[in-house]
Amino acid sequence: MRSTTDQTKPRISFITPFTVQLLCWLVMTVVVVGLFFWSATANYSNLSSTLLGTTKALLLPGQTSHGHYQIELACNACHTANMGVKQDACLSCHQEELKLARDTHPAKKFDDPGNAARLKVLDAQKCITCHREHVPEHTHPMGLSLPTDYCYHCHQGVMTERPSHADFAFNSCATAGCHNYHDNRALYENFLQKHVGEMDVVDNPHVREPDRATLSPDVALSAADQDAPEPHRAEGRLLHDWAQTLHARAGVNCQACHVADKQSGWQDAVSHHTCAKCHAGEVAGWLQGHHGMRVARDLPPMTPAEARLPMKPARAHEQLDCSSCHGGHRFDTQYAAAEACMTCHNDAHTLAWKHSSHAELWTRAGAGQGAPGTGVACATCHLPRCENESGKVVVQHNQNDNLRPNEKMIRSVCMQCHGIAFSIDSLADANLVKACFAGRSQTQIKSVEMVREWFETKAKKRANRKAKTGGS
Ligand code: HEC
Ligand code: HEC
Ligand code: HEC
Ligand code: HEC
Ligand code: HEC
Ligand code: HEC
Ligand code: HEC
Ligand code: HEC
Ligand code: HEC
Ligand code: HEC
Repeated sequence: MRSTTDQTKPRISFITPFTVQLLCWLVMTVVVVGLFFWSATANYSNLSSTLLGTTKALLLPGQTSHGHYQIELACNACHTANMGVKQDACLSCHQEELKLARDTHPAKKFDDPGNAARLKVLDAQKCITCHREHVPEHTHPMGLSLPTDYCYHCHQGVMTERPSHADFAFNSCATAGCHNYHDNRALYENFLQKHVGEMDVVDNPHVREPDRATLSPDVALSAADQDAPEPHRAEGRLLHDWAQTLHARAGVNCQACHVADKQSGWQDAVSHHTCAKCHAGEVAGWLQGHHGMRVARDLPPMTPAEARLPMKPARAHEQLDCSSCHGGHRFDTQYAAAEACMTCHNDAHTLAWKHSSHAELWTRAGAGQGAPGTGVACATCHLPRCENESGKVVVQHNQNDNLRPNEKMIRSVCMQCHGIAFSIDSLADANLVKACFAGRSQTQIKSVEMVREWFETKAKKRANRKAKTGGS
């Protein structure tokens, strides 16, 4: 409470409103700049993490893009101490994937001095020419921050070289199903040419089974063999579930998961580090995608409460790890592939899956009415079975690996069951994606047809030349 005498106190003359403002401003600046450097360079896991996290978040100039906001607090993954962007920041995390995608426009493509004029208009050797951060008012999907007609700067020639392209606008090159800037594996004309004329649904549509280690019956364990010490020994449901699994059949006993090392002894919680001892590939994939990306940067694990996508409230505060889908002791991959996802995800596309013919195929296959691999669950598309370096078919646990641009899914998923034109059309129709492919595409992409015509014209020209030169 202010007393009346306060007001009658003589005022000290040099504290004018202006000097107060100046002082406040100085103090604020020192604090802000200090916090800025401290929080930008400090290690998240060492210091009082909540305070640090809040301070860092306050220093963000704007919302971080969809791809990165879960790791936005790892400022120093991208920034130098004085807030510049590190020279190799983007490639330190994305080089491998762009290489595998056979990037159509890698930076080194522009090393040729002949490209200097083009680079002056648009410096394609720098990622941040096209992908900026924390500027939501300027960024589109995939963190893109440039006008959609930029292909023009380097490819004007195409209008005259390709009669079929004469009427196209330059903001249509990179629309769904035509061209991508980086990953054109499913869109290169030679590839399309190979698949011209394929049926909508191929004969015997199915995905391959994952390869399993050969399990010797000698190592198989039963409930009586559990090696959990007292008081951790299990009975009932838990023991029964474990005894039914491939783990028991492969001789993986309780301690293999619950005793990380001799010193720590038995622990109820089992981290992904323990799974990694036997499943390194799955863990590596998981760490790269949205589900595991925070853990990979030593940030606290993600919870659905922190998501921007719609999530079911029931699991809002659960930390994501391997048990998010492989919960309990059953390690039931049928459950993990669809039901598990739907306990968290709650967007229109997820909810629509049940009504698709894919889901019907999945239910039939699960009930033994369809052959193995003929069903299409969430995981069939998002955690596809792919070949690893040693040629084994394993489950890709990075669910972002083939997500955007969505043409990435064509080769890794759809083409096992559908023709290429059908796949391109389906993925190019945003409403159909939203409806989780319950229905037919309302969009028709002409590229396969154009490629067919282009190759026919070329073949005709060649035949004419041959005829003129006497068929030699
Ligand atoms: C995934 C990479 C990434 C992360 C993580 C990240 N930033 Fe950025 N940040 C960028 C990029 C890219 C730019 C844009 C640079 C440009 O446009 O020249 C940027 C711009 C900025 C700018 C504006 C700088 C300028 O010169 O205009 C500030 C300030 C900034 N970031 C602060 C932060 C802070 C604080 C954090 C951590 C809380 C953070 N950033 C995390 C990539 C990142
Ligand atoms: C610390 C690692 C890391 C760094 C550094 C990083 N990224 Fe990413 N980026 C990720 C992860 C993880 C994802 C999410 C998974 C995915 O989409 O592959 C992602 C996603 C993306 C996406 C896809 C976004 C979407 O909506 O699908 C783009 C584009 C991207 N990053 C570009 C960049 C650029 C450009 C830079 C440099 C300014 C950069 N990244 C720096 C890890 C990183
Ligand atoms: C001339 C503009 C341009 C430049 C430069 C550029 N990108 Fe992209 N990037 C795109 C466009 C456009 C997309 C959207 C998908 C597409 O068309 O390939 C994209 C998509 C991506 C994606 C999403 C996944 C994928 O495989 O397509 C990643 C990751 C990415 N860029 C990383 C980078 C990195 C790292 C660099 C720097 C080495 C870089 N980009 C430079 C235009 C650019
Ligand atoms: C900064 C210049 C530049 C920009 C911008 C650019 N390109 Fe290119 N592009 C090149 C160069 C250089 C080549 C290689 C020479 C060639 O094949 O013409 C190339 C090649 C290609 C190829 C042929 C690849 C192959 O191996 O068959 C395609 C397709 C392509 N670009 C599409 C696009 C699209 C679509 C865009 C816009 C989303 C775009 N480019 C933007 C410079 C650029
Ligand atoms: C393949 C690894 C693995 C094996 C083998 C395994 N567990 Fe577990 N166990 C876990 C994981 C992961 C959790 C955490 C469960 C969760 O979060 O859903 C767990 C949790 C537990 C818990 C904590 C209570 C609970 O139900 O969550 C007990 C007790 C337990 N396990 C006992 C056992 C016993 C006894 C055996 C042998 C019969 C065994 N476990 C075999 C991975 C394993
Ligand atoms: C001591 C080694 C070992 C550890 C530790 C281990 N696993 Fe396994 N796991 C195996 C073996 C062996 C198989 C069966 C053979 C195969 O799939 O190649 C298997 C199979 C699986 C399967 C497939 C089950 C099926 O029915 O198809 C899943 C899922 C799985 N493990 C998840 C996990 C998770 C999650 C963890 C950590 C909580 C874990 N495993 C820890 C060795 C291990
Ligand atoms: C988003 C859900 C999800 C998460 C999280 C998840 N998995 Fe899986 N996992 C699956 C699904 C679904 C399958 C089976 C897919 C199939 O059969 O096509 C599977 C299969 C497996 C398999 C056996 C198949 C193989 O050869 O790869 C192993 C081993 C495995 N997971 C380990 C792990 C480990 C370790 C983690 C933690 C890093 C983990 N999973 C996290 C959904 C998940
Ligand atoms: C425990 C909850 C949980 C489970 C179970 C789960 N997810 Fe997720 N998933 C998340 C969260 C949280 C995110 C991050 C969303 C965000 O950042 O907005 C995510 C992200 C994703 C993304 C990336 C979205 C994007 O736009 O980049 C895909 C795809 C995805 N999940 C598919 C699946 C599939 C398929 C399954 C089942 C095999 C599954 N999820 C199981 C919680 C879960
Ligand atoms: C036939 C393949 C297919 C099936 C089945 C499927 N999806 Fe998708 N999913 C896609 C495609 C394609 C996209 C869109 C990628 C894009 O264009 O951004 C997508 C997008 C998503 C996203 C990201 C949404 C966003 O706005 O960023 C999530 C999360 C997701 N799916 C989860 C699921 C879940 C959970 C299921 C099962 C209930 C499922 N999906 C079934 C193909 C599939
Ligand atoms: C395991 C095989 C398989 C995979 C993988 C698969 N599909 Fe299908 N899909 C089918 C079959 C079989 C049908 C026909 C079902 C019917 O006619 O009852 C179908 C039907 C469809 C339909 C028409 C649905 C309707 O209601 O008429 C669309 C659209 C579709 N798939 C798109 C895709 C896309 C896009 C992908 C890749 C992201 C994909 N599918 C992956 C097997 C598959």
